[in-house]
Amino acid sequence: MKVGVIGAGTMGSGIAQAFAQTEGYEVYLCDINDEFAANGKKKIAKGFEKRIAKGKMEQAAADAILAKITTGTKEICTDADLIVEAALEVMDVKKQTFKELQEIVPASCMFATNTSSLSITEIGAGLDRPVIGMHFFNPAPVMKLIEVIQGENTPNDLRDTVVKISEEIGKTPVQVNEAAGFVVNRILIPMINEGICVLEAGVASVSDIDAAMRLGANHPMGPLQLGDYIGLDIVLAIMEVIFAETGDPKYRPAPLLRKMVRAGKLGCKTGIGFYDYSK
Ligand code: 3HC
Repeated sequence: MKVGVIGAGTMGSGIAQAFAQTEGYEVYLCDINDEFAANGKKKIAKGFEKRIAKGKMEQAAADAILAKITTGTKEICTDADLIVEAALEVMDVKKQTFKELQEIVPASCMFATNTSSLSITEIGAGLDRPVIGMHFFNPAPVMKLIEVIQGENTPNDLRDTVVKISEEIGKTPVQVNEAAGFVVNRILIPMINEGICVLEAGVASVSDIDAAMRLGANHPMGPLQLGDYIGLDIVLAIMEVIFAETGDPKYRPAPLLRKMVRAGKLGCKTGIGFYDYSK
C-alpha cells in the first residue's frame, strides 16, 4: 500500500516512519516544498542513528526503511492508496489541501486526517469522497493508539478499512464519533490546562506539579512537561476548539497559557516553555 503523508513536521514524519517500518507499506512524505519534506525524512534518520548508537537497530534495517520513504510536494502522490493529512491545524488549509489532492490521487484513494480536534465533517464537506480521522499520538512511531474518527458522512466500510490498516501497522485503534477533542484530547488537554491553572494560582512550582502527577498518578510526564512536549500553541488551539464547540466555561484556556503562546514560549520546539530547553 502506498501512503501519502501530507506535512513533514513532528507528527507527519512520525506517521511516515510508523507506516514505512511496516512490511508492505511505502510512503510519500510531502510538504509545501522539497526542502521541508526532505527535512522530515532527515528527522526520521536522526532518530534511527540514536537507536543504532544504542545497539537497538542495525544500519541495514534503518536504510531499508528510509528507502521506502520518497519525499517531495503532494504532486508525487499520483498512485497513493491512502492519504494521511498532517498539515497545519487550520481548517482552510486542510480543506484546500484535500481539494487539490482529489485532482492528483486516484479516485480509489482514501482520505484520512490526523487533525487533533477539528471537525472531520467540515474538513470533508464539498469533497468528492469521504474523510476519516486517523489521529496518531506524539511520538507517533512509539505511541500505540490511533483514534479512528467518523464524521457525519464517513461510511462504516472506510472506518473498517482504516481500523484494519491501523492494526497492520502495529497500533491499537479505538472507534470514535466526531466530537470536539475526540476522546484523548477532550480529557488530556483540559488536564494540562488545569496544571497551568494550578501553577498560576501559586499552588505549587512547575517541577512539583509535574512530579506530583508523575509519581502520584503514574503519568510518564507531568502536565507542564507534556504541554511543552506537545507545543503550547497546539494545547491552546485545542482548548479553543473545545471551548468554542461546547460553549462550556470549564474549557476556558488558562490566561497564563495564552500569555506564553503570545510570548513565543511554546515549549520544546522554541527552546523555552515551562522549562528551558536551550541547552
Ligand atoms: N520518535 C521515535 N521514537 C522515539 C521518540 C520519537 N520522537 N521519542 C522516544 N522514542 C523511543 C525511544 O527511541 C525509545 O525506544 P527504545 O526503547 O526502542 O530505545 C522509547 O521511545 C522510549 O524513549 P526514551 O527511553 O527516550 O524515553 P521514555 O521512556 O521517557 O519515553 C516517551 C519517552 C515515550 C515520550 C514518554 O515520556 C511518554 O510516553 N510521554 C507521554 C507522551 C504522550 O502523552 N503523548 C501524547 C501527547 S498528545 C498527542 O500527541 C495528541 C495531539 O493531538 C496533541
